[in-house]
Amino acid sequence: MNKTIEDILGRRSIRAYQDKPIPEEDLKTIIKAGLYAPSAKNKQEWHFTVITNKEVIDQMSGMAVEGMKRLELDMNDDDHIFYHAPVVIVISSKIAGFSGINVGCAVQNIVLASMALGYGSCIIGQTRYMYHKANKIDVDKLLKIPEGYEHDISICLGYPNQEAPAQKPRKEKIVDYIL
Ligand SMILES: Cc1cc2nc3c(=O)[nH]c(=O)nc-3n(C[C@H](O)[C@H](O)[C@H](O)COP(=O)(O)O)c2cc1C
Repeated sequence: MNKTIEDILGRRSIRAYQDKPIPEEDLKTIIKAGLYAPSAKNKQEWHFTVITNKEVIDQMSGMAVEGMKRLELDMNDDDHIFYHAPVVIVISSKIAGFSGINVGCAVQNIVLASMALGYGSCIIGQTRYMYHKANKIDVDKLLKIPEGYEHDISICLGYPNQEAPAQKPRKEKIVDYIL
C-alpha cells in the first residue's frame, strides 16, 4: 500500500511514552510539517509552542487536572493529561473565520509527520481546562501565546511505550455519493 495511505490508516492515539527525548532535528521536521499545512487565504494565523521542559509539561497537566476536578470531571491527582510524553506542542490561533479548521489541518500534519518518523502522538483537547478562574498562573504568558491569539489544542508525542491499539471501527452509512 502507498506509505502515506498506510500511515493515515495505521495512525492511533498513543497513551504511553518512553522517557527519552526526541532528537531536535526530528522535532524541527515535525514542526515544519505543521507549518506547511494549508490555511484559508494562506493567512497562517497560528502559533506553535514546543515544550520539552518536563517541569512545564507537568505543570500544564496539573493545571488541567485541577480545572477538570473543579468541574467534577472524573480525574485523579496523579493523572497526567500528556501521559508523561517528552514533547508537547500547543497550537494557538487568531480567532477568525476557519481558524479551527486551519489548526485541524496543522494538527493532522504534525501527527502524521510524527508517525512517519517513528513516533507516537496523541491530540490533547484537555489543555483547555488549564484555563479556570481559580488558576493564578497566566497560562498564555507561560506558553508564550501571542497577543490576540487563543489556545486551541495540544499534541503530545514521543517514542511509544505501547503497541499501537487496535483500529476502532468506523461508523457506517455516513458517506453519500451523488453520481
Ligand atoms: C479534537 C481532539 C481532542 C482530543 N483530546 C484528547 C484528550 O484530551 N485526551 C486523549 O487521551 N485523547 C484525546 N483525543 C484523541 C481521541 O480520543 C482519539 O483520536 C479517538 O479516540 C480515536 O482513536 P485513535 O486516535 O486511536 O484513532 C482527542 C482527539 C481529537 C481529534
